[in-house]
Amino acid sequence: MNELDSLVATARAAFAEAKTPAELENAKAQFLGKSGRITELMKGMAALSVEEKKSRGAAINVGKQAIEAALTERRQQLADEELSLQLRAESLDVSLPGRRRIPGGLHPVSRTLERIEEIFSSMGFDVADGPEIESDWHSFTSLNNPPNHPARSMQDTFYVDMNGDDGIPYNLRPHTSPMQVRYAHQHIKKYAAEFAAAAADTTGTVKAPEIRVIAPGRTYRVDSDATHSPMFHQCEGLWLGENVSFKDLKVVFTDFCRTFFERDDLVLRFRPSFFPFTEPSAEIDIQFASGPLAGRWLEVSGSGQVHPNVVRNMGLDPERYIGFAFGMGPDRLTMLRYGVNDLRLFFDGDLRFLSQFQ
Ligand code: DAH
Repeated sequence: MNELDSLVATARAAFAEAKTPAELENAKAQFLGKSGRITELMKGMAALSVEEKKSRGAAINVGKQAIEAALTERRQQLADEELSLQLRAESLDVSLPGRRRIPGGLHPVSRTLERIEEIFSSMGFDVADGPEIESDWHSFTSLNNPPNHPARSMQDTFYVDMNGDDGIPYNLRPHTSPMQVRYAHQHIKKYAAEFAAAAADTTGTVKAPEIRVIAPGRTYRVDSDATHSPMFHQCEGLWLGENVSFKDLKVVFTDFCRTFFERDDLVLRFRPSFFPFTEPSAEIDIQFASGPLAGRWLEVSGSGQVHPNVVRNMGLDPERYIGFAFGMGPDRLTMLRYGVNDLRLFFDGDLRFLSQFQ
C-alpha cells in the first residue's frame, strides 16, 4: 500500500471512530484542516520539479477526494443515526388506548338537595343560602340558647379565630337553624312596608306577611362515626304566619316525604323531644309499609313550634306570629333513599362508590 492509500485508510478509520458530528469534525481537521496531513503533503511538494509536481499533485488530489468522500459518507451516517434515534424517541404507540373523557355527575347528596329544593319550591317556600362561618348570636343566642347554657353541648362545633362584636368567637355553624333569624331579618327588611302596615293595623284586616323558607347547606360538628361526619348537611325549614300550626307542619312534611321517596305508603310520627328554639318540640320519624326498611321508624328531622323568644329575636310579635320550624338531614335522606349504611362513604371521594349514582 502506498503512502496515500494508507493515509486514506487511516482517515476512514478515524472517521468511523467518531461517534458524534463534533468528534467527526475534529477528526476531519487532522486530515483536511489547515495544518492537516493533506495540507502538509501539499506543502512538501515545493521542492519538486514541475513534472514531479504534476504526478504527485494528482495523486494527493485523488487521496484528498477519497478522504472527503469518506467524510461525507460518515456525516450522512451520523445524521441518519441521529434521525432514527429521534424518531424512535418520539414515536407514537398507536396501540395505546385513547384518553377517555369520564362523564362527571352530581354527588348523591347534591341530588338530594336539588330534590328538596324542588319539592319545597313547589309548595311556595323560598330557598335561602347563608354563611358557614356564623356568629355565636345567630348560631345559639338568637335561638333561645343563652351563653353557657348546657343545651349548647347538643351542637358542639368548631370555633374560628375571629371574634364577633360581643367578643365571642365565630363558629362553623353547627346547624342551619341560624338561618331562621338571619332570613327573617332579610325578609322583613325587603318587605318593610308590608310588615309595618301589618304591625300598625289595629282593625285586624291587614294580614301579616308570611315567612316561608328552606335553607339547605353545610354544617359542622365535633362528631365522627358511621352515621356522623364533622361536615354534614342540613336543611332548615321555617313557616311563620298568623295561623300556621302543627297541622300544617304535618301536612307539609308528609307531602314532602312521600314526594321525596316516591312512596304513598309512607307514614309519619311526631316523637316529643327538646330543642331550645322550639316549644313544643318533636322528632319526625318516618316508616315505609314495604321494602327493605318496612316497619322500622326512621328519624329524619327535628321540628317544633317556633319559640316566642326566637320570634321576638326576629323582630316580630310572638302574639301575632306563630309557626313551625324543622331541621332535617339530607345526608340521612340520601342514605335511606339509596340504601347506604355508612355516611363516610359520601365524603371519601371514592369514584367507585360515587359513580354508581350517575
Ligand atoms: N337544629 C337542630 C339540630 O341541629 C334541628 C332542628 C330541630 C331544627 C328542631 C329545627 C327545629 O328548626 O325546629 O339538631
